[in-house]
Amino acid sequence: MDIRRAVPADLLELSQIYAREALEGHATFDLEPRPMELWRDKLAADGPGEHFLVAEHRGTVVGYASSAPYRPRPAYLHTRETGVYVAPDHQGLGTGRALYETLLALLVDDGVHLVVAGVALPNDASLALHRACGFEVVGTMRGAGRKFDRWIDLTWLQKVLG
Ligand SMILES: CC(C)(COP(=O)(O)OP(=O)(O)OC[C@H]1O[C@@H](n2cnc3c(N)ncnc32)[C@H](O)[C@@H]1OP(=O)(O)O)[C@@H](O)C(=O)NCCC(=O)NCCS
Repeated sequence: MDIRRAVPADLLELSQIYAREALEGHATFDLEPRPMELWRDKLAADGPGEHFLVAEHRGTVVGYASSAPYRPRPAYLHTRETGVYVAPDHQGLGTGRALYETLLALLVDDGVHLVVAGVALPNDASLALHRACGFEVVGTMRGAGRKFDRWIDLTWLQKVLG
């Protein structure tokens, strides 16, 4: 498996990984797949601490991870939010961890101070991945989202990079 920066040719495959989660899962609070234009915008974003990585296995994109500014207000300048998605038939094989370790190393090099991630519950795999990568739980927002006719709790995790 190869971890590398995303390129335009990856967008269709990785958007399909996300689309499945939007339509059938609760890891994202999106209810519909994202238009390709949004993926192209995400790929084009190259500010400090903005990264878009893919995991490729035998010529197929099997996962991706990304980082972006947490909020636009200037005092959040040194905080980034991360996300990670792995295709169902490749989960539990170390792909998420490999993506995150590469992403976190890039963020350290960028001088980012704090990384945060929101995990919609239940999601044992994501909580385990974040903990394995050194994140600690900050707290849980009860009923932060509503999907499939039920309230969904959201646990925030953080990792201080330096
Ligand atoms: C969450 C997700 C990204 C994890 O990626 P993954 O490739 O399946 O995870 P990995 O195989 O790299 O495992 C990472 C760690 O979590 C643990 N883990 C993985 N799946 C687990 C599970 N179902 N239950 C408990 N622990 C689990 C692994 O043991 C590993 O820990 P270790 O390195 O100390 O052994 C992936 O399952 C996924 O894409 N799920 C759907 C979308 C999603 O939830 N995205 C996250 C949004 S916050």
